[in-house]
Amino acid sequence: MQWLRHINYLINRWRKLFKEVRGEFIKTYKVVGFDEKGVEKMGEKPSDFRYDTGPARVPWAAVGESYNADDVIELIQFLFQKNANDYDNVLKEVEAAIRRLSNVSRPPGKLSLGTKVLELEETVRDYLGVKHCAFLTNATAGFEIAYKYANLRPGDEVIAPSITFIATISYPLSIGAKVVFADVDPRSINMDPTDVERKITEKTKVIIPVHIGGWPVDMDPIMRLAEKHDLVVIEDAAHAFGAEYKGKKVGTIGHFGVFSFHEVKNITSFGEGGIICTDLPIGEDFGKCRFLGLDLSRKIKNWLYDVVALEGKYGPFVAGNSSSTEIQAIGLLQQMKRLDSIIEKRRRNAEYLVGRFKENDAIILPPMDDHEIRSAHHLFLLQIDPKKAKGDIQVLKQKLTDRGITNIPHFAPLYKFELLKRMGYLVGEIEASCPHTEEVFNHRFTHLPLYGLNEEQMKYMADGVIEAVCEMQQDI
Ligand SMILES: Cc1ncc(COP(=O)(O)O)c(C=O)c1O
Repeated sequence: MQWLRHINYLINRWRKLFKEVRGEFIKTYKVVGFDEKGVEKMGEKPSDFRYDTGPARVPWAAVGESYNADDVIELIQFLFQKNANDYDNVLKEVEAAIRRLSNVSRPPGKLSLGTKVLELEETVRDYLGVKHCAFLTNATAGFEIAYKYANLRPGDEVIAPSITFIATISYPLSIGAKVVFADVDPRSINMDPTDVERKITEKTKVIIPVHIGGWPVDMDPIMRLAEKHDLVVIEDAAHAFGAEYKGKKVGTIGHFGVFSFHEVKNITSFGEGGIICTDLPIGEDFGKCRFLGLDLSRKIKNWLYDVVALEGKYGPFVAGNSSSTEIQAIGLLQQMKRLDSIIEKRRRNAEYLVGRFKENDAIILPPMDDHEIRSAHHLFLLQIDPKKAKGDIQVLKQKLTDRGITNIPHFAPLYKFELLKRMGYLVGEIEASCPHTEEVFNHRFTHLPLYGLNEEQMKYMADGVIEAVCEMQQDI
């Protein structure tokens, strides 16, 4: 029976791939060789299927302007900026080489949603062990797809942690759904499942746990609550690509997982990018979810495609456009090759800081990897005990800034922002319902970077934090 399941799986995989390829306009023209003048000999396949001009190859980009050598040289100068006297000479050589190369090359068939995007998605599916994923413009777009799947409507409630980035809740706010803020677990500053339970009502439709700084939320109780109350769980794993929770990759535990590849993340797709993943059947339609519901397998009379509604949990929803580019996909594919070593380096840096911070018991050590939980180590959670430090985190932040040490005060409780006040959120009431949030935000935490800092830089940072806390203790 095992082998039957295996064959079935392979057949389904091929079917799906075929569907995706057809569904997303991907069909490249086949170059089978070159004649004696260097002109391409084309294979039997037509060129781009929408612009089938037979042997006269018309790339997809022919309906819009493609790029040329000048564009690429400009791009290279942007990616490799001047940093040494030799730069101008080397650049001249590179320019000449690019012009030569451009004379013996052809543009790719597609710049958006092409074979590289497919390759990336295949790689990410394997890496995460999920059935479906889609590469998007950013994580915010991924949340939107997942919220739409939950058929979130005005008046419905979403439970989000109080401490996160606004992107986590921008879609519910924009449609008039109500965001209910769960307090945080003071040790990890992640959403506290016991407070989530207290805040579930008849109107709750979605829980969106956020793995802040790459440290996994305690997902088991969240999933038990979701099952009991029939809720959709969207993991905001923007910081946590590669993290693990009890043998599963973070982002694959909830109904949806969403990752960010914005420029500040552990790996990036040239500045912006996101991935959504799921095991739910809606994942088969991710291609349509990210591209306006266009369905090439269902042509209407006299036209090339149909536009369809997507099937949400309780009814249809309308797709938006969050398509991403081949170049972004190439960037992420490349960086994925280094992902494990990037996380490993960050883990070593985090361990170094933990080792050093044991020197002063006013510094509260963050939870660290064990046999069940592995962080993506996006940020280092630095907390202090204000009584023992004889001052709070605001004092420490100033002292770190004075020493030139970057701390990353990224995440304020969202209910403090003007937007929420304008929308009628009662800040005082929410503050009272989130006591740990108030305490850690006002008095205890900030983040430190773990990005590939060398030993000397790590030592400077650790020394600086310890000295600054000692100064506070001596009232300097
Ligand atoms: C916790 C959190 N969620 C979501 C996002 C949004 O990611 P993106 O910029 O890819 O939309 C961010 C971005 O930094 C984030 O920090």
